[in-house]
Amino acid sequence: MCGIYGAIVSNQDAGSVVYHGLKRLEYRGYDSWGVVVTRAGDFFIEKQVGKIDKNHQLSAPPAQVAIGHTRWATHGRVTQVNAHPHLAQNGSFALVQNGVVENYQQLQEKLVSQGYDFISQTDTEVIVALIEQLETRKHETEPSVATVRQVFSQLRGRNTIALVTQSGKIIAIRQGSPLVVGKNKQGDIFISSDVLSLAPDANEYFILDHGQGVIVTCKKIQPFVVKTGKKISLEYQPIKISSTALDTAGFDHFMLKEIYEQTEVLNNVTEQPQKQLTALVTEIKKANRVYTLGAGSASFAAEQLAFWLREQGVLTTALKSYEARSYQNLFSSNDLCIAISQSGETADTNEVVEWLLQFGVKLASIVNMPGSTLTALSDLPFMLQVGPEVGVASTKALSGQMIWSKLLSELIAGKTLLAYQKQVQEYSKQLQNWFESQVIGQLQSLAKELANHKHLFVLGRGQLYMPALEFALKMKEISYIHAEGFSGGELKHGVIALIEQGTPVVCLVAKDKEKNDMLSAAAEVKARGARVIGVSIENNQLFDDWIRLPKASELVAISCFIPAQLLTYYMAVEQAYDPDKPRNLAKSVTVK
Ligand code: AGP
Repeated sequence: MCGIYGAIVSNQDAGSVVYHGLKRLEYRGYDSWGVVVTRAGDFFIEKQVGKIDKNHQLSAPPAQVAIGHTRWATHGRVTQVNAHPHLAQNGSFALVQNGVVENYQQLQEKLVSQGYDFISQTDTEVIVALIEQLETRKHETEPSVATVRQVFSQLRGRNTIALVTQSGKIIAIRQGSPLVVGKNKQGDIFISSDVLSLAPDANEYFILDHGQGVIVTCKKIQPFVVKTGKKISLEYQPIKISSTALDTAGFDHFMLKEIYEQTEVLNNVTEQPQKQLTALVTEIKKANRVYTLGAGSASFAAEQLAFWLREQGVLTTALKSYEARSYQNLFSSNDLCIAISQSGETADTNEVVEWLLQFGVKLASIVNMPGSTLTALSDLPFMLQVGPEVGVASTKALSGQMIWSKLLSELIAGKTLLAYQKQVQEYSKQLQNWFESQVIGQLQSLAKELANHKHLFVLGRGQLYMPALEFALKMKEISYIHAEGFSGGELKHGVIALIEQGTPVVCLVAKDKEKNDMLSAAAEVKARGARVIGVSIENNQLFDDWIRLPKASELVAISCFIPAQLLTYYMAVEQAYDPDKPRNLAKSVTVK
């Protein structure tokens, strides 16, 4: 998952526009970055390892045409040589890629046997070499669209590419990772990996579909079909995202801003079209099998939705996107799948969706990012509406996914949308009070103590089992602590061997049927020296620390991982990690 940004502008510096566009795309990958500017037939390329410094001044001269890339390394180490853009050895074009050329080794071997001398370790350079080879064979001075199309047809996998030629033409093709084209009232033209990043530059946009490309020259945009070269026209949509969504609004990090936004945005989640909700509930009730699907934190939301549907008597199977292959032959046209994804571009999830659609499975989805692939593929698409989530950690998005999932189970139980909306409004008020209480200071102190631990365990049962796994994931991905979530019932089946004097064990406890068994688990780890951190609505003498939750016990499965969001945020800051851009991660995993 990388970020691509390009610009052809008249009264501003294209290099600087692209550089700042990449800064807004950095959530997609931040190992290294690069910008290429073309002016009077010359290229000026600057590439650096590391994150984008918003105060950096590019060395390139002012120009009207530029493309750039922010990288999450797939093939080839994080080095300047491997950073994109990659310049053709004959100097006629420079290219960036978002995706993976799955057959790059065969292509690379053939090119080497023909005498091509690779400079980088990337799969992307294979594309550059193939275009340059065909361009030379056709005696072109720079690659034509036909040449780029011909080479693109040899690539396997999900590849989105953009190249700029010496004459200042941009050619881009989408197959997999998203690519949008925007323009403003001054006639400036932009390409980007998402709509959100276009907001400060463009007024309207269109999204390229898989197998579509675009040629952009000064003042002219021409979309085409890659396979045939046929020119097409695509409908522009207004950009409705305010660019203010792209700043931290006074918070130190996007992650903290987005954690606090949960007190307001969760109410937006319940603002769903009643007709569409009714249609989905009908499909759930009549389906032969119901599947839920997601990756990472979204997979925990998918499991929670399956749990809540099973409680309403709906036999539901939760699929982790990356472990769904064994179910493939079970899919049938009488089935329903509910896919959960913040970005709507997760390759693992969208690949399973493609299988499901081949078997005629009806697809519903809940997505946060407007204009995503998953939304476009869905029979019953829903929008999460929690606003852009820039921090890599899924915080308000996951809470929103859980709120939406709970809505479905409430509707199946016969509750009304209005009743549930009132419940969420009350929860939001309680959450606001919680954020203003002493619990924040308590979490900050606890974070300082836990930051030095190497291991941390989280126990939960029933409705709190998935939240326990999510609690642990947050610790892993933001504070880099080895945290594991377990079912409270699993403790005595092996896990308890790990408990030593002072081991921190978080126990998620609800006032439900699992409560007594969970407290027994707390007693058992305490008897072996653990530090028991109780996360619950009411205190208990077994707890060495008690993190009080908002009183809304019917939504405790949603409130109980919010302490994890804050705890891991403070632990990261304590260790001078960047909570918005954790090492090795990116916000949208658009490669498998
Ligand atoms: C969660 O904090 C992670 N950022 C990650 O697990 C994420 O939930 C997962 O990659 C799925 O992303 P999606 O919701 O965009 O599909």
